[in-house]
Amino acid sequence: MTKTLNLGMIGYGFMGRAHSNAFRKVGHFFNLPYKINLKAACARNDAKVKAFADQWGYESTETDWRKLIERKDIDVIDICTPNNSHAEIALAAAAAGKMILCEKPLAMNGPEGLKMVEAVEKAGVANMVWYNYRRIPAVTLAKQLIDEGRLGRIFHYRAKFLQDWTINPDVPQGGAGTWRLDLAAAGSGVSGDLLAHCIDTALWLNGPLESITAMTETFVKERKHALTGKVEKVGIDDACQFIGKFDNGSLANFESTRYARGHKALYTFEVNGENASLFWDLHDLHRLQYFDHRDQGIVRGWRSIHVTDGDHPYMGNWWVPGLAIGYEHSFVHQVADFLEGVGKNQLAGPTFRDAYQTQLVLDAIIASSNQSSWVSVGK
Ligand SMILES: NC(=O)c1ccc[n+]([C@@H]2O[C@H](COP(=O)([O-])OP(=O)(O)OC[C@H]3O[C@@H](n4cnc5c(N)ncnc54)[C@H](O)[C@@H]3O)[C@@H](O)[C@H]2O)c1
Repeated sequence: MTKTLNLGMIGYGFMGRAHSNAFRKVGHFFNLPYKINLKAACARNDAKVKAFADQWGYESTETDWRKLIERKDIDVIDICTPNNSHAEIALAAAAAGKMILCEKPLAMNGPEGLKMVEAVEKAGVANMVWYNYRRIPAVTLAKQLIDEGRLGRIFHYRAKFLQDWTINPDVPQGGAGTWRLDLAAAGSGVSGDLLAHCIDTALWLNGPLESITAMTETFVKERKHALTGKVEKVGIDDACQFIGKFDNGSLANFESTRYARGHKALYTFEVNGENASLFWDLHDLHRLQYFDHRDQGIVRGWRSIHVTDGDHPYMGNWWVPGLAIGYEHSFVHQVADFLEGVGKNQLAGPTFRDAYQTQLVLDAIIASSNQSSWVSVGK
C-alpha cells in the first residue's frame, strides 16, 4: 500500500512552483511506495504564502521556517530559498529528524556543505539536492551510453551555461528577484548558480575532477543594492571559465556567463570518446546527438536521437513515442526517484554528499581565480 509523506516547503518562488508541480504530478505517472501530501508552505509574507498555498493546494501555512521544522506532522522539508539559508535550515531539519530535499548549490562553500553532509548522515535522514538536469531523459540516456562503454576512453568533456540578463548595469543586486547578484545571499555568481549544474552533470557522467585552473570576471563592478538603496561593490563572478583534468585523464573545458547577449539558458555539453561522441543542448532538450565512429563509413554521421520512445529513460511513464516532455518533468522524475529510494532504503543521488563534491569544485574555482594558479580539487 502507498504510504504518505507530509511535506513542508520553504520558499514559493521559481523553484517552489517547479517542485509543487512535481509533487502534484508524480503519483499520477509513477507507481511509487510513497506519495507526497502538500502539508504546509512557508514563507515570510503571510498574505503571499496563503495565496500560494491556495493556488497549489497546501493544507496550511507558516511564516517562520523554525516553526515548520518543529511540527510533528511534517516528514519532509523542501528548501527552496536563496543559498545563504540552505545550511541553517538543513541543520535544524536534520536535528529534528526530517527528510530533506535541498535546492542547489548545496551550500555557500565547501566547509558549510560538509557540515550539512555530516548532519544528515549523523541523523540518518533521507536527503537529496535538486540538480534536476540529470533527469532530463536525454541526459539520463547519455549516462546510460557512457556507462555501457559505448564511447570508450573519454578524451574531452566540454560544457557551458550562458545567459544575458545582467548586462544592464541598472539591474540591482540583493532583494527579491536579484539576490543572485548579491554575494552575501548567493555565495558566488554564475559559478554557483549556472556552472554548478554543468559540474554536477559532469561528475555524474565522467567522474571526479582532479585539478583545475579558473578565470572569473566581474564586468559591472558596482550596483545599487535593492535593500539598502546604496551603490555597493559587486562581489559575485559575472563570468567564469575553467579548464581542468578529470581523474580518468580526460580534459575539462567549462564556461558560464550572464553576459552572452542572445542566450537565455544555453546549457550544452559534449563528450568525446575514442569510439563515439555525445552532444546535448537544453534548448533542444529531448534530443541527444550521438556520433559512432564504428558505423559503416557510407552512413556514418551525427544521429539526432529523439528521446521519446518507451524504452528511453522515464519515457515509458509518459505519452506515446514521439511526443516530447519538458523542463518541468525533470523535477517530477527527481521526486519519483527520491520516493523510490526511500522505499528501498537506498538513497537516489545526488545526495548531500554527492552535491558536496560539486561544492568542492566551486571552491577550487574561486581559489584558482584568486591565486591565478592551478588548484587540486578537494575530495
Ligand atoms: N534546480 C534548478 O534548476 C534551480 C533553478 C532556480 C533556482 N534554483 C535554486 O533554488 C533556490 C531558490 O531559487 P529561486 O529561483 O526559487 O528563488 P526565488 O527568489 O524565486 O524564490 C525564493 C523564495 O524564498 C523565499 N525566502 C527567502 N528567504 C526566506 C526565509 N528566510 N524564510 C522563508 N522563505 C524565504 C522568498 O520569499 C521566495 O519565495 C536557490 O538556492 C537557487 O539556486 C535551482
